[in-house]
Amino acid sequence: MYNTSKILGGAIDICGDKSLSHRFLMILSLIKAKSTLKNVSKCKDVLSTIDCLVKCNINIVFDKESISINGGDFKNPVQPLDCQNSGSTLRMLLGLLLGQSISASFVGDESLSKRPMERIIDPLQSMGADFISNNGMLPIMMHAKLINPINYKSKTKSAQVKSALIFAGMGLEEYSKISYNKNTRDHTEQIMSDIGFNIHIDENIKIKKTILTNRINITIPGDISSASFIIAAAILIPGSSIIIQNVLYNKGRLAFIDVLVNMGAKITIKNISAQVYGVQSCDIIASYSSDLSAAIIEGGQIIQMIDEIPIFCIVACFAKGKSIIRDAKELRFKESDRLQAIYDNLQSMGSNIELNDNTMIINGQKRLYNTNINHHNDHRIAMAFEIMKLVIGEDMTYDYANIIDISFPDFYKTLDSLIS
Ligand code: S3P
Repeated sequence: MYNTSKILGGAIDICGDKSLSHRFLMILSLIKAKSTLKNVSKCKDVLSTIDCLVKCNINIVFDKESISINGGDFKNPVQPLDCQNSGSTLRMLLGLLLGQSISASFVGDESLSKRPMERIIDPLQSMGADFISNNGMLPIMMHAKLINPINYKSKTKSAQVKSALIFAGMGLEEYSKISYNKNTRDHTEQIMSDIGFNIHIDENIKIKKTILTNRINITIPGDISSASFIIAAAILIPGSSIIIQNVLYNKGRLAFIDVLVNMGAKITIKNISAQVYGVQSCDIIASYSSDLSAAIIEGGQIIQMIDEIPIFCIVACFAKGKSIIRDAKELRFKESDRLQAIYDNLQSMGSNIELNDNTMIINGQKRLYNTNINHHNDHRIAMAFEIMKLVIGEDMTYDYANIIDISFPDFYKTLDSLIS
């Protein structure tokens, strides 16, 4: 249908998973030993986490191929902690630092300063912390007082909030109890449990103070959310076939692939590794799929593929029939209002698309035209529409490296290495 001369082929490794990189850095900062991490994501969000931890006296040293981290000795930072664009850094650090009785002030960029933080301030306040914030947003000053274990009834279906409360609960001798939504990613609890923290995972998560001195050495598998952009390009561009090696394998992070396979995409998962510190990896093979049908995404699936919705919408434009995305309100509170950004850009390309409240409907296989994209300084919107350009036979703009670096520093390089 489109005149695409570029075909994707070959095998690649991909930068370390961002969610895991944040978490391993934070969790290892709690351990009084020198641990080593390989393939940590060098994306800007993770660099923000490293910068904040270093400002709190955690010793982090970059070597050629690894990062060493010597934890266990937090001190109050003298400067504000700049979380830049990173919601994960801010939300999870609030809990982590409260658990270590660290008082700090937090700032961030324009986008992060507009995002809601009551979801984490409120429960941490109930544990004893004092906050001064700008109406529940940045800048935030946290005065760390940790008095009460929390018995949290999950209000926000967020892995960041769950993780922050687990970290905060680590500061108390009594158990904190956190109820959680099963669709939120489970990395924090799985890693902590495998490393030996006092954590019990069943209907609720129970956690209490644990002093550990064991060294941890691990290679972080590739970022499955970054991989989703490459996978989408491979299934949409005729003649393509790629392998992404050593990428994260976690059932809660595979919803995008499961949905694509149900739509008729040719994707296979191979070589699933054994579990190391709560983490597994695999190889993913994706090939051009000429016969995609529409899909409905709702409820728990939205939570499981929250970061993949922008690229899912691109795929839906090429699938036969009406794809529907429901229950997607949370997308309005990401780095941009992603529902609106996707709608506006797809509409300007000529897509047959509707957005009512928090439901998006995409009628696939409408002819699309190249237009100027407004990425709203949002890395996942920028990547989704760079892929869209490739699929409709245009060149990528290569203009957004500065934005895409937030999560996927080698985005253009990785794609170029696959394009023939
Ligand atoms: C993340 C959880 C999600 C996701 C974000 C990373 C994490 O946010 O959108 O990119 O690593 O826990 P929420 O927990 O706010 O849904």
